[in-house]
Amino acid sequence: MPESLSIVPAPRYVELGDGPGLALGGGVGLLVGADPAEIALGVYVARLAERIGIGPVDMLALDDGRDQLIELRLDPAAGPADSDPAERYSVVVDRRRALVRAPTVAGLYYGVVTLRQTLRTHPAGYVYAPVLRVEDAPRYPWRGLSVDVARHFFPVEDIELVISLMGYYKLNVLHLHLTDDQGWRLDVPSRPGLVERSAGSAVHGARGGYYTAGEYRRIVTFAASRGITVVPEVDIPGHVNAALHAYGELTPSGEPTEAYTGIDVGFSRLTAGLPATGPFLRDVFTDVAAMTPGPYVHLGGDEVPTLDPAEYEALVGIAHDAVRDAGKTVVAWQEAATAPLAPGSVLQYWDPRDGHEAIIAAAAAGCRVLMSPGSRAYLDMKYDAHYPRGLEWAGHIELRDAYDWDPGVVIPGLPLESVVGVEAAIWTETLATVDELTEMLLPRLTALAEVAWSVPARRSWDSYRRRVAAHRDYWDQIGVRWYPSPHVNW
Ligand code: ACM
Repeated sequence: MPESLSIVPAPRYVELGDGPGLALGGGVGLLVGADPAEIALGVYVARLAERIGIGPVDMLALDDGRDQLIELRLDPAAGPADSDPAERYSVVVDRRRALVRAPTVAGLYYGVVTLRQTLRTHPAGYVYAPVLRVEDAPRYPWRGLSVDVARHFFPVEDIELVISLMGYYKLNVLHLHLTDDQGWRLDVPSRPGLVERSAGSAVHGARGGYYTAGEYRRIVTFAASRGITVVPEVDIPGHVNAALHAYGELTPSGEPTEAYTGIDVGFSRLTAGLPATGPFLRDVFTDVAAMTPGPYVHLGGDEVPTLDPAEYEALVGIAHDAVRDAGKTVVAWQEAATAPLAPGSVLQYWDPRDGHEAIIAAAAAGCRVLMSPGSRAYLDMKYDAHYPRGLEWAGHIELRDAYDWDPGVVIPGLPLESVVGVEAAIWTETLATVDELTEMLLPRLTALAEVAWSVPARRSWDSYRRRVAAHRDYWDQIGVRWYPSPHVNW
């Protein structure tokens, strides 16, 4: 990529031209199609233009021949020809016009994001886009971030900030870890006691909370406006103390457990032989599927040392069937590779301490694999031994560790085409505020975004570390806390 451009993630093809570029001031035209999704994107661009100092734009349905024009045009042939049409795009900027073309509105959005990352301020004070041409498409269709809102709760506004950051780096899946031992964070209609009795708690006595159905819809809608699908996770059959605390019928004694505010894992479990267990799993997963417009529901399945394999399979099976019956695709952590999952299900790899055989076998049977290796993608790991927050079980993850790996070769013997994508994860045992959260995400989330988006031939650490330095201006502008990794000349 030309030195003076700092687009992250790196596009497939970029060419920087000569000349003064497109000056953007108030009165710039914005030409968009009439489809509701195109109009919604147009409104987003118009608001953005005001916010970043371009000034008011005129939304146009027809080119009126004016001198400054941004055009968003649906075009099935736009973007690199050998790529999936779902998210590819092209951007061409000359002195008169910025033309963003894509086969889909999602692609148009990515074109807008790229255009925005190229904007500069002229010494004379106005904003302009340099003359350039970009042809771009992602390597992987799943580019995610998983956020643990169970150990500490983060209200809708915090999640919206995270979604905005994700959109800026072309991530497209927000996975919400909604339940765990320490708290239950989503109100589901069939079991109101879950939030009544288990939403108030969080790690070490921190304030809890939960999303009402309306707040969850707000998150889903805001995410959709940035091309992001929400994948809700209800973690079973372990990590369930919040459920056992709310409903005693789920424990062998019939008594609810105590609330749990520590940070141990692997001690709580459902019990297959109890009459309440099956209906609980069916009802909760049916509810969550019904509340979720996206195609995926995550059933957890991780860290269950206290369950024998047959009972584990039985419990995962009930949740799996409820998700399938609701018309959704199952996502589960890698431990579920031993359970019979429907072809097309997504297994999320996280623990390098485990063997790979079951995952390779599940992939051979039709599962897809999502890459979240703890030593690369777990953004709650400390940057280094001196960093005040975070965990260390998967090692320290400095910026280069988050950047310098290839998801295609993490599991030797796994076919390249079985890898559906990359997901960063941030667990919140030690992270209580949105500032603490973003300081762990930035800059490492941008490295993971490039790993997920950019093909290996088009990215390199040296190029990335130069480009990411320019992004501090954006983070400072929007007022988010970030970590000045010593790997970058900020
Ligand atoms: C996990 O980190 N227990 C999925």
